[in-house]
Amino acid sequence: MPSYRQLGTLPPKRHTRLARDVEESHLGEGLYYEHVVTTEGFERAYSILYHLRPPTRVRQVELVERVEPQAAEDQPLRHHHLRAGQLPREGDPIVGRVPLLFNDDLVCYRALPQEPQKELYRNGAADEVIFVNEGRGVVETPFGRLPYRRGDYVVIPRTVTYRIVSEAIEREDHLVLEVFSPVRIPARYQNEDGQLLLGAPYYERDFHSPAELVTVDDASDTPILIKDGPRLSRVVMAHHPFDVVGWDGFTYPYTFNAWDFEPLTGTVHLPPPYQQTFECGGFVICTFAPRHLDHHPEAIKVPYAHSNVEADEVLFYVEGNFNSRRGVDVGSLTLHPGGIPHGPHPGTIKASEAATRTEEMAVMFDTFRPLKLTAQAMAIDDPEYPTSWLD
Ligand SMILES: [Fe+2]
Repeated sequence: MPSYRQLGTLPPKRHTRLARDVEESHLGEGLYYEHVVTTEGFERAYSILYHLRPPTRVRQVELVERVEPQAAEDQPLRHHHLRAGQLPREGDPIVGRVPLLFNDDLVCYRALPQEPQKELYRNGAADEVIFVNEGRGVVETPFGRLPYRRGDYVVIPRTVTYRIVSEAIEREDHLVLEVFSPVRIPARYQNEDGQLLLGAPYYERDFHSPAELVTVDDASDTPILIKDGPRLSRVVMAHHPFDVVGWDGFTYPYTFNAWDFEPLTGTVHLPPPYQQTFECGGFVICTFAPRHLDHHPEAIKVPYAHSNVEADEVLFYVEGNFNSRRGVDVGSLTLHPGGIPHGPHPGTIKASEAATRTEEMAVMFDTFRPLKLTAQAMAIDDPEYPTSWLD
């Protein structure tokens, strides 16, 4: 998790009264209501919020539906290129998400919404990483307003209710990872005092938490769509849940922009762990940001062919002319399963000889358990891709 942050009004000591004017008090108890949000039981990062009303005032609950990703029919083991930039716009930024790849650790969706988010949403069982391929706006949360822009990883810990408010919904384009373990900054980037090391590829200032707290005092019934695994429920609260007057702690929604990643380059090619950005249970997320290329006079400047036999590798192409690939578009995904080698396309080694920099931007996730493709993924699968390495 990023470092300690605080916003708004807090009592000097935790778990003590934060008094309010009784005249103002809606329930007449003369205090704000403490709410502790913990992770891994009570053992890891947590935050403490103070509400106008108790966060437990549920009016009504209903089961909405089950939304389980469905695996496509069995495919031979092969590489895949999913033309995921060509998906039609549909739905809102939450219910319009299209599942493409999944295993027991994550579900990967593309979202190209055509209408604003209809109701408040919360994922009760997974952290979410929303990579903003295109778009700009604000994520409204109980922790305050979190601005986002192109290239942001928006990381929303489980149980945080939110609404995406876009400046132009018809331009929004997201890659969404629903992550069934905590999304963390790799421990090897932090010193024993919890600070990011001087040699880490980013610094605390690159992580942006909500900057503006908006306390909504509204006693109207407010529905929240809640997802936990495949189950969607709707809870109607007896008030608006964004009624926080102050919070502090280590767990909160935040953004990190991919263009703020500080890539390392060597004399010869450095492997993906140098690009690691986030650590999750069963997989890692890496950022391939614009960078200088390897500078040994005989260096081959595109990655060698490799069999990463214990990982499935997914690349999402964001910007640039991907030196080692042919025929992939911005917005595409490739899946290179661990059981077969992949490498640079013919001609790309020669073509990169004179290059000193690459302006490409791509997001990668490497999963330690095999990924399954959905029927929606197979509908945009490029059948020519597995044989695209022939001369
Ligand atoms: Fe690779």
